Amino acid sequence: MKKIVVNSALGILMAGVFTSCGNGNNNESSDSKEASDSSATKVSTAGIQQSDWGETDGKKVFLYTLTNKKGVQVKITNYGGTVTSFVTPTKSGASTSIVVGFEDLSAYLPRLPYFGATVGRYGNRIAKGKFTLDGKTYKLATNNGPNALHGGLKGFDKVVWDAAPLDNANPSLTLHYVSKDGEEGYPGNLKVSVSFTLSDDDELTIDYNAETDKATPVNLTNHSYWNLTGDLKNTILNHTLKIDADKYTPVDTTLIPTGELAPVKGTPFDFTEPHVIGERISSVPGAAPGGYDHNWVLNHKMGTMDKVAELSEPTTGRKLEVYTTEPGLQFYSGNFLDGTIKTSLGTPIQKHAALCLETQHFPDSPNRPNFPSTILKPGEKYHTTTKYKVTLEK
Ligand code: GLA
Repeated sequence: MKKIVVNSALGILMAGVFTSCGNGNNNESSDSKEASDSSATKVSTAGIQQSDWGETDGKKVFLYTLTNKKGVQVKITNYGGTVTSFVTPTKSGASTSIVVGFEDLSAYLPRLPYFGATVGRYGNRIAKGKFTLDGKTYKLATNNGPNALHGGLKGFDKVVWDAAPLDNANPSLTLHYVSKDGEEGYPGNLKVSVSFTLSDDDELTIDYNAETDKATPVNLTNHSYWNLTGDLKNTILNHTLKIDADKYTPVDTTLIPTGELAPVKGTPFDFTEPHVIGERISSVPGAAPGGYDHNWVLNHKMGTMDKVAELSEPTTGRKLEVYTTEPGLQFYSGNFLDGTIKTSLGTPIQKHAALCLETQHFPDSPNRPNFPSTILKPGEKYHTTTKYKVTLEK
């Protein structure tokens, strides 16, 4: 066990104790630590640190480490606006990362299922890769069966963003990207900025802002894969989930909403009371590989910041609370993970090894006039906020 003296940005000294090694608990193996993050072993100072992480597309890539006064640490790279690690303690005093992530840029360069990435210009699917706006039909790449998914062939998850770290009382990183008119088929030059802020209350707040010079659909989200055991050898089937949503958007076999807002009551989609994820997963209707990959219609008022979901894991005592201003939440139970991709130590990332809670507008909104609009017009400001807060139940 190492003692870490935490030095806040204000120069106030306090002592934090944060173990860096697993304690023999099966759920906190050293393998999992490397799977997600091994640099939790380094002594760190509260604030933000930048380190070189390589180069791609002729641009420099950096890894930013945000550390709070308690030693909770989030790593984000400007490649894809990707969260690579989120290290928090367990009730037994170990510390491991609760998101899927890799230690090297090279691991992110092959096509990955958006591990930790900032997804845009349009997160989720657009049917047949087509939409009509102001009388003009736009054609996008169909990169997911017949549909467009997550911004296209080279979405925001695969570009190098400009980065502005800020060593405030709460360390924060703002990433900027200008998506050109016509990029991936979308209209308008879109100026995007995404800020990540880590508080001393173990909250990672993500603020999304955008402006355009032509009307365009925009739907930005973060695609972190969570496993609160911190060990990808465990699945998320024993995690408990609560979602504050009385309705969801049923989908066709290609995961495009039918347009209906269906009640969750009496179905495996009812998470209005906490349910263990594995309890009803086999009865979720849908095409192979099955499992949850749906959008929930959140009960709260769009635009207000409310708690909309809670994920908990009993063996580590960790709980993840999700707050957002968005109207929807895509809960994806890692159904397409199949063990092909491996952690740094070679652990296959198996089916249901991790899950996503993607705050967003509804899938295929540009083709669904009855869904809340995703169209951003010149002169308007796109602004949404999502917060992931980690707590510990002893
Ligand atoms: C999203 C989708 C899933 C899948 C993953 C990436 O969450 O809804 O169907 O495509 O991204 O694998």
